[in-house]
Amino acid sequence: MTSIARTPAPNPRGPDPQPPRNTRGVAGVLALRGVDAADIRAILRRAAAYADAAPGADTTHPALRRRPVANLFFEDSTRTRLSFSIAAARLGAAPLDLHAAGSSVSKGETLIDTARTVEAMGVAAMIVRHRCAGAAAAVASRVACPVINAGDGRHEHPTQGLLDALTFAQAHGREDGFDFSGLTVAIVGDALHSRVARSDAAAFTALGARVVLAGPPALAPPALARALGCESTHDLDEALGAADAVQMLRIQFERLADTGAIAGPEAYARAWQLTPERAARMKRAAIVMHPGPMNRGVEIHPDVADGPSSRVLRQVDNGVPVRMATLAMCAEAAADHA
Ligand code: CP
Repeated sequence: MTSIARTPAPNPRGPDPQPPRNTRGVAGVLALRGVDAADIRAILRRAAAYADAAPGADTTHPALRRRPVANLFFEDSTRTRLSFSIAAARLGAAPLDLHAAGSSVSKGETLIDTARTVEAMGVAAMIVRHRCAGAAAAVASRVACPVINAGDGRHEHPTQGLLDALTFAQAHGREDGFDFSGLTVAIVGDALHSRVARSDAAAFTALGARVVLAGPPALAPPALARALGCESTHDLDEALGAADAVQMLRIQFERLADTGAIAGPEAYARAWQLTPERAARMKRAAIVMHPGPMNRGVEIHPDVADGPSSRVLRQVDNGVPVRMATLAMCAEAAADHA
């Protein structure tokens, strides 16, 4: 995806100046924006099946058994990297971790040279996290194996969008068809810098939900909401009252430094923190999500993060089956194109 196993359409103006090196046409999973609802539902169905597998069931996959799968993480991660490793292992693959700090990246090797070096070792797939938007797509254009975007700058984090959609479906009994018609999701906080907000907006709108971006004008601008097919509000109580799920976004202090977009953590917390009092005004069946890592006491109160409506750890748990489904379907697509 930008799509699983989609052969790129021929360029009507003639060959591209630098044709992609992915000669099998396996683009991996680079983004959710623009992906058909049917394709998103297919991954979610597979993920739900892996999530429901009996403990100890054989979930190994013939296209991945004993094949290396490389985690290329050029930016820190806890959830995504570990869950991709667990997912690869449950499929019978051998997860490999490249840490930028301990690799030849520190000697100046480029992202593309690093990826092509890893590819030459025969990996079945690459998972790429990088601080630059477009990094995973750049790698995908220069290697023949599937590439999965594990978060690129403020662009997208597609497997996070998928695991959030699975979590929402489980909470609201929508696993049959993954049709979210009639339901509303509020994405609250720093949408501007958030790749999670972009992937969530793509997934939830594709599946039929109404999505509302809520935050201060500098962090949830109406133009961004329109571009993502969402509504926007700067009124937290209005957003919470209508929501069947709220996704609280992390305030990204590392990206906000010196921008003046927020006055400071205390002022932000006063205006935008999901407190127990605010959470109590949500619909009875509404759930609270957060992609993590959380700034406890800033965007979310600890009692809400750990409370009965919280699905934060369920989101983490769902990361493994979603990433199993993604890896398995990419491997099948690559085998079809071989
Ligand atoms: N949600 C998320 O991407 O978390 P990590 O940065 O820990 O992978």
